[in-house]
Amino acid sequence: MTTYPPSDDFVKRAHVQGLEAYRALYEQAKADPEKFWSELAQKELSWFKPFTKGLEWNPPFAKWFTGGKINASYNCLDRHVAAGRSAKTAIVFEGEPGDQRIISYQELHRLVCRFASVIKQLGYKAGDRAIIYMPMIPELPIALLACARLGITHSVVFGGFSAEALKARAQDLDATLVITADGGWRRGKEVALKGAVDESLEECPNVRNVVVYKRTGSDIPMTAGRDLWWHELDQKLNAQEAENCPAEELDPEHPLFVLYTSGTTGKPKGILHTTGGYLLQATMTMKWVFDLSPEDVYWCTADIGWVTGHSYIVYGPLSAGATSVLYEGSPDFPAFDRFWDIIERHKVSIFYTSPTAIRALIRQGDDWPNKHDLSSLRLLGSVGEPINPAAWQWFYKVIGKERCPIVDTWWQTETGAIMISPMPGAVPAKPGSATLPLPGIIVEVVDTKGIEVGNNREGYLIIKQPWPSMVRTVWGDPKRFEEQYWSRVPGSYFTGDAARRDDDGYYWVLGRVDDVMNVSGHRLSTMEIESALVHHPAVAEAAVVGKPHEISGQAVCAFVTLKKGEWDHKALQQELRQFVGHEIGPFARPEEIRFTDALPKTRSGKIIRRLLREIVTSKGAPVGDITTLEDMTVLASLSSQHDDD
Ligand code: WT7
Repeated sequence: MTTYPPSDDFVKRAHVQGLEAYRALYEQAKADPEKFWSELAQKELSWFKPFTKGLEWNPPFAKWFTGGKINASYNCLDRHVAAGRSAKTAIVFEGEPGDQRIISYQELHRLVCRFASVIKQLGYKAGDRAIIYMPMIPELPIALLACARLGITHSVVFGGFSAEALKARAQDLDATLVITADGGWRRGKEVALKGAVDESLEECPNVRNVVVYKRTGSDIPMTAGRDLWWHELDQKLNAQEAENCPAEELDPEHPLFVLYTSGTTGKPKGILHTTGGYLLQATMTMKWVFDLSPEDVYWCTADIGWVTGHSYIVYGPLSAGATSVLYEGSPDFPAFDRFWDIIERHKVSIFYTSPTAIRALIRQGDDWPNKHDLSSLRLLGSVGEPINPAAWQWFYKVIGKERCPIVDTWWQTETGAIMISPMPGAVPAKPGSATLPLPGIIVEVVDTKGIEVGNNREGYLIIKQPWPSMVRTVWGDPKRFEEQYWSRVPGSYFTGDAARRDDDGYYWVLGRVDDVMNVSGHRLSTMEIESALVHHPAVAEAAVVGKPHEISGQAVCAFVTLKKGEWDHKALQQELRQFVGHEIGPFARPEEIRFTDALPKTRSGKIIRRLLREIVTSKGAPVGDITTLEDMTVLASLSSQHDDD
């Protein structure tokens, strides 16, 4: 197989140069991980008080950098200002309508201090929890950093989630503050946010305030006493106090944020990340993987509502002192060259996006990128799912002009930072492989018993050693944390992914082994969509599987049995799609709904999803919208009794 080594020019200026240098660093980390991470933590982060112990490991619970005091907001802002980098651009913002803001580190520091003062004066303090539900505008990272400054644990809810999903998260977290906006812009239309907040808060009595940023200027209801305009609170600040809002000195294990992610049951899990370890790995991977240098203009196209945006738009780039692009809207608005246009105008040098976005843009033809000068690019990145070789080749040739290495970065919400990826100046790429684990990350491929399968054999991907940015627990449910991640292979972290390692030690991640789907790089649980569907009065039972999809990787396909009655199937399909949109969010709507008389089950009554997957995958799949009872019975008997499916 062809490998793609970096050019000599790229290697010359890289942080880690050549495979030997990577191996040396990897071996050094492996020999004494605690020492390795401790030295980096001392060197790469600013501490109010030095830590005394690197790692306390009581499997599966880890504490990193005990005894120290630190603040993530301080590390992302104050230390750069103090080091003479105040004039450097922190954020290049482009709104979808075309509005722009260039925000220096000094200005970002000022804005974060002001907003932290605002919420402090409302009485919020370290240990409180805030839900953030905002469009991709500078006030989103500002809100995160203001919370982090005070030690308020934030939980960003992606704007595509519905009021129901928002409510579930606010309740699980017992949040007392919500930060939102009237709306944001997407494909030229306003995406309203405040309405969903109002609806969700009907059942969240502990939320005392909703702070609302005015983005679109549309008319929205404000609840007296509870809802407050961001700009009005800001204007009321006492001039002297406002910008002097010192960062709280926090324990490195202080909860920085909780992000809800889909698991194998209907209820999303609150993945908890803490301060010191998370920040360290977010920072290090900016250097190792994105090879960041002071003159780079870096752009990650993810939404801050997902972990990629937390680690690679907010905490990683800002802690590393990068200039980072923030774009509010859609890649196809007003035309299919919005990404290429932004890259050209802002001279982006590092561009990090998803295979889904790449595939969607390939479809529009090469004329769109070819109209633009993309010569500022020097490194490309991919995340969210395995990148198929055709998409890789297009990205490499048409966008990178065969000059730019591609880093295929494997990681998860739970890992906090990139785990497997080439260091671009050191590790030659193979299209479709995330290549080699980063220093300090010990991975393995094992069978159901936890025994290593060796090279070239498929198995479960596990991580054998704790790492600083690892998930600390499932919020409010340590038992689920243990069972979900640490019980399959005792002592090791179970990723839920299948993988294979080749003879060069390269990892090929093959996809999920559990009931988690990956739709456009978003994680969706089959069970979560099923439980949404069965809430509908017409639905008796539902089973959801992922169906291969050319652009989004997978698409949601639902098999539904109906309660007795006369149903208009066409109308009901529409209604159920809307219904899932309401229960979870528009992005979770099934692309396909098939009505069936029965679902294939094991003797003990478990739905055999594997069979349904076969139906949606096979070319000779049943046509029409009705899959009959006979089909299901035949299929079920064919499968005999796979209770473990
Ligand atoms: C799952 C994690 C943190 C990244 C954004 C998604 C899949 C992610 C890759 C990749 C193959 C990948 C895995 C993983 N995945 N990146 N480069 N190659 N698979 O975070 O929502 O927590 O999803 O995304 O299946 O387990 P997430």
